[in-house]
Amino acid sequence: MAISNSKLVEIAAANGTPFYIFDAAAIRDRFAQLEQTFGALFGVSYAVKANPNLELLRLVDPFVATFDVSSYKEIERVLAIGCPPERITFSGPAKREAEVRGAVEQRIGELVVESLHEAEVASAHAVELGVRQPILLRINPASGPKHFGVSFSGRASQFGIDEEEVGQALSRIAQLPGLELVGFHIYSGTNSLNPEAIADNMTGFVRIFRAASEQADIRPRKLVFGAGFGLPYGAADEPLDIQAVAAGVEATIRELKAEPRFQSAECVLEMGRWLVGPPGLLVTAVVGEKESRGAHMRLCDAGFNNHLAAFGMMGTVIKRNWRIRNVSNPNAATDKYTLVGPLCTSIDVLATNIELPAVRRGDLLAVENSGAYGLTASPTRFISHPEPREYLLDGETLVDATESELNYWAEIDRTGRLKRSA
Ligand SMILES: Cc1ncc(COP(=O)(O)O)c(C=O)c1O
Repeated sequence: MAISNSKLVEIAAANGTPFYIFDAAAIRDRFAQLEQTFGALFGVSYAVKANPNLELLRLVDPFVATFDVSSYKEIERVLAIGCPPERITFSGPAKREAEVRGAVEQRIGELVVESLHEAEVASAHAVELGVRQPILLRINPASGPKHFGVSFSGRASQFGIDEEEVGQALSRIAQLPGLELVGFHIYSGTNSLNPEAIADNMTGFVRIFRAASEQADIRPRKLVFGAGFGLPYGAADEPLDIQAVAAGVEATIRELKAEPRFQSAECVLEMGRWLVGPPGLLVTAVVGEKESRGAHMRLCDAGFNNHLAAFGMMGTVIKRNWRIRNVSNPNAATDKYTLVGPLCTSIDVLATNIELPAVRRGDLLAVENSGAYGLTASPTRFISHPEPREYLLDGETLVDATESELNYWAEIDRTGRLKRSA
């Protein structure tokens, strides 16, 4: 059951707006759906970048095989919830040398190697520390996925080793004494709502994994499939049919697992937005009404400083209105509105010509699909507004999960200096 409007009104009245809220039951339900549909084929790797909130990481921990992190700070977050380092993979381009060393020191499960230089650096540190670091080689496929909102492959990319160069890279990696190649990783695109396209893409991964494993002559321990599952952000989008994805890949994965070389390979679906996006809302209050040249403008207290993606500025080619609901007046007669944020720039537009039940000053609006790539994917310090609070609602229990250290209204003292807590 979705979070009720009355609950949102109650939270806003108590603690103000804007705020993010994540529905724990809905998150558990999405993991259960994934388990029912893919449990026999795949484990799940949660991409921490989608939402690194500590309360949320604690919540998803029992359901995930691994946490994929993309910075050393994300390693620290995952360790902070008590997850053992063996369940961490570390992907991402331009890892700093200190991050690579830190990952090796922490004995994380696998470093996802994105370049030969990174492999050399990791090997040198592992040798110095007297360990062998397990690695997954990330491969950048030669062709890009079709019908994906965002595609990284089939062109020049900072991610992974180009498929054409894999043979050469494997020969070099085999000479590096500090590394143990235990598998492969592909994440070639995201936000697809087309099950056939996702299944085709994953079938392509299997072909690449097979060829690379033969070239390296290893029995891989892990194969990471960057899933690319999308969300219906626009009003006209249908949710992804995950059963159809499973139907499209099941035979291929079973065949792969039946081959002796792949019998002990753990296949992992890596994703973020599909798991935690829909259970999250950004709630903003309408602080003003303005008529301008025929447009009914409503001025909201959340801007792209709070949610870059919903304002169409994160990987969006054609800006579309996200799904938004009027929490305060869900049954009023509808009209068309332009919703804008508080920032002093004309691009701070949440929605244009969106049809909503009459929106008045003081109303609360909820931006749906906001549990992933929300607050931490936004330029929160622009114009120095306080950061939204974050809550996890678990049944009747509301957990304040706010992590902001930038809510400095209260902390600037009269001398203009920031008060720092000891
Ligand atoms: C390596 C890797 N894995 C997983 C993800 C998660 O993608 P999504 O949240 O779209 O599922 C990303 C997103 O950028 C990524 O870079």
